[in-house]
Amino acid sequence: MTAITCVDDLRDIARKRTPRMFFDYCESGSWSESTLHANEADLQAIKFRQRVAIDVDERSTSAKMLGDDVTMPVALAPTGLTGMQHADGEILAAQAAEEFGVPFTLSTMSICSIEDVAENTTKPFWFQLYVMRDRKFVHRLIERARVAGCSALVITVDLQIMGQRHRDVKNGLSAPPKPTLANLVNLATKPGWCLKMLGTRRRYFGNVVGHVDGIEDMSSLAQWTAGQFDPTLSWDDVRELRRLWDGKVIIKGVMDAEDAAKAIDVGADAIIVSNHGGRQLDGAPSSIAALPQIVDMVGGRCEVWMDGGIRSGQDVLRALALGADGTMIGRAFLYGLAAGGKTGVQQVLQIIQKELDLTMAFCGRRTLGEVDRDILLPKSG
Ligand code: GLV
Repeated sequence: MTAITCVDDLRDIARKRTPRMFFDYCESGSWSESTLHANEADLQAIKFRQRVAIDVDERSTSAKMLGDDVTMPVALAPTGLTGMQHADGEILAAQAAEEFGVPFTLSTMSICSIEDVAENTTKPFWFQLYVMRDRKFVHRLIERARVAGCSALVITVDLQIMGQRHRDVKNGLSAPPKPTLANLVNLATKPGWCLKMLGTRRRYFGNVVGHVDGIEDMSSLAQWTAGQFDPTLSWDDVRELRRLWDGKVIIKGVMDAEDAAKAIDVGADAIIVSNHGGRQLDGAPSSIAALPQIVDMVGGRCEVWMDGGIRSGQDVLRALALGADGTMIGRAFLYGLAAGGKTGVQQVLQIIQKELDLTMAFCGRRTLGEVDRDILLPKSG
C-alpha cells in the first residue's frame, strides 16, 4: 500500500469506503458552492515569507485554547452524522483527539449520544448546541452536557434555517440510509462500512431519539431541521442560554464584526469565525477573509478562532498569522475517520501537526507565540 502522506490521501480512501450519501454530505456546500470553494482558495492565496539562516532547532506547536494546553491549536469541529462516516465515529474521533491532546466537539446532531461519548472517553469534551423550538429539550441537552462533564458549550448561531445542499436532496440523505434500490446498490460496494455498522447499535441521532416526543421521522436531517430548529433565535435567547451554563461558552458561526460585538456582549469566551464550511449562506465571504476585521473588532476581549477550508498545517498557520487564537477542522478529520476510524483521525492530526511545525520553521519561527502577520507577504491575506 502506498504511504499516506497528506489529508488528500485519506480523502481518496474515504471516498471509496463511505456510502455515497455520507461522503457527499461531508463534501457538499450550499447551492453553487461558491463559499465552500472560496474557503479553500482564499487560504491558498495567502503567501508566506520564506526566511532562512534563523535557528529553528527547538520548536513547539503547543498552545492554549480557553486556558487549556493543546498539542496544537486545532480543535475537532462539531460535525453532524459523524457516526455515519464510520461506525461509532464520534467516540473514535473523541478518543483520537483526547490521545493527541486537542479538543473534540460533539454535535447535537451526532449519532453517538453525549452519554455514550462521555462513557468512552476520560477527558472532558465540548458540546455543540443547536437551538430547537422545544426549549425544554434544549435545556435538557444542556443539563445532559453538564452531567457528562463537558467543559464548554458551543452555541451555533448560523443554522436556524438550513442552506440547501443539492447532493443531499438528490441522494435522499438519511441516517440510517433508507433501503431504496439505489442505496442498496451503493451499500453493496461498501462491505467494510456495512459490517462495522451492523456491529454497532449506534445508527440514529443519539442525542435526540428517545429524548423528544412527537418526532415521527428522525432520519431526515433536513426535514427535522426545518421542523425543529428555531428560526426566531435572538441574541437575548443566546444570553439566556449562556446564563444556564456555568462553564465556558463559545459562539460559532460569526462572520460579521457587528455580530462579534454582540457575541462578546452576551458573554462569549470564544467566537468562531465560520460560514459553516460553506454549507449555509452561499455567497458569503470565506472565513479567512472575514477573520481580520473580526480580530480587530474583538481586540483581545475574547478568543477568536476560525474554521472553513483548513486542510493542512499551512492553512492553520495562515489563520494564526491573521490573528486567530485557534482553528477548527471538520472535513479534514472526517476524511481520516471515514478512511481508517480512530487511526485515520490520528493520522490527520499527525499530518497537520507536522505541516504546521515545518511551515513555522520555514518562516523562521520556533513557537506559535512568535507567529504574527509578519510571516506573510505584504498584501497577502
Ligand atoms: C449541520 O451542521 C450541517 O452542516 O449539515
